Amino acid sequence: MKIPFALIGCGAIGSRHAAVIDAEPRAKLVALCDIEESKMERQRDLYGREVALFADYRDMLAATDAEVVNICTPHGLHAEMAMAAARAGKHVLVEKPMALHTADAQEMIRVAAECDVHLMVVKQNRYNVPIALVKKAVEEGRLGKIFMVQCNVLWNRHDEYYQHSNWRGRKDLEGGALFTQASHFIDLMIWWFGDVVDVHGHIATKNHAIEIEDCGNALLEFSSGVMGTMTWTTCVYNKNYEGSLTIIGEKGIIKIGGQYLNKIEYWDVMSYPLPEDVEFIDQPNLYSKYQGTSSNHPRVVSDVVAKLLKERHHVVEGDEGFKSIDAIEMIYRKATILPGGNP
Ligand SMILES: NC(=O)c1ccc[n+]([C@@H]2O[C@H](COP(=O)([O-])OP(=O)(O)OC[C@H]3O[C@@H](n4cnc5c(N)ncnc54)[C@H](O)[C@@H]3O)[C@@H](O)[C@H]2O)c1
Repeated sequence: MKIPFALIGCGAIGSRHAAVIDAEPRAKLVALCDIEESKMERQRDLYGREVALFADYRDMLAATDAEVVNICTPHGLHAEMAMAAARAGKHVLVEKPMALHTADAQEMIRVAAECDVHLMVVKQNRYNVPIALVKKAVEEGRLGKIFMVQCNVLWNRHDEYYQHSNWRGRKDLEGGALFTQASHFIDLMIWWFGDVVDVHGHIATKNHAIEIEDCGNALLEFSSGVMGTMTWTTCVYNKNYEGSLTIIGEKGIIKIGGQYLNKIEYWDVMSYPLPEDVEFIDQPNLYSKYQGTSSNHPRVVSDVVAKLLKERHHVVEGDEGFKSIDAIEMIYRKATILPGGNP
């Protein structure tokens, strides 16, 4: 038995979804949609002539017998596409961020419930080996009382990254760098320490000709009482420098780093050394000039299949995805915009 999947958006991550669905033994790719025909054709050439192609996602939703629709388009299109798919009776797997506004995310959750379909969000970094080790250590209370978390997303996005895209850097379609570059980090902190309940922040656009920020600092307060700081930027000279999360607790300190949160850089926890037999097996998603996230998408898709077959799974549902949108919206609402030197 293979669950039929359809895919909207055959760009950088959509092509990865196509490969992952094709490789999943209990899934099959039945339809593709993109406004650029050549991108769909490239995927069909790889995964079979029987895959149907559609230039308009509404036509695809009306015609396809897919049970799940993966949404891999620019952020600002996720909400309308997810709700249309739900209304067509399809389960939805939407890329992060699920939406650009909490009102849209709430409406997506409501429509999915009304249509009796699952709304699922891609959060593949939760499967990373170091992330899971920290989750376990936190849940078991190994760090004692946790005082603080520090998050650094110090990355480079060159001018062409924005210039060669018709949606990146735009307020209506990308929303902000927090949605693109930092939403995984925010999701993980919320997963470990609870909802973000208050924030203070500064943002600025210092080194790109874009409508969104490229530098930001935020102070975060989590519902568990943990204090957080975040610095995020796409202005680092030449190439990505660091994506890291450092947790400071009464009985220990852990720093996760690497190019895509794939390494433990520091681990000193009372009576709880880093297990020696742990294998750091996460691999990166490779884009033209940069890496940013882990490529644990196969785990996400196999968990979607498991959920639909009523097996054990770790799928992230819409209400969990909502939490990082809520936190990001709060940061943008409360942040002071500093003068930038926007070119
Ligand atoms: N989980 C992750 O780590 C991860 C990694 C990369 C991207 N993403 C997310 O995936 C989404 C897409 O990012 P990307 O880097 O693949 O962007 P991209 O620009 O490479 O791809 C977007 C694709 O959507 C298509 N598209 C645009 N409008 C459309 C429409 N109306 N109908 C059908 N297709 C349409 C474009 O032609 C393009 O092929 C973003 O929301 C991004 O945040 C997530």
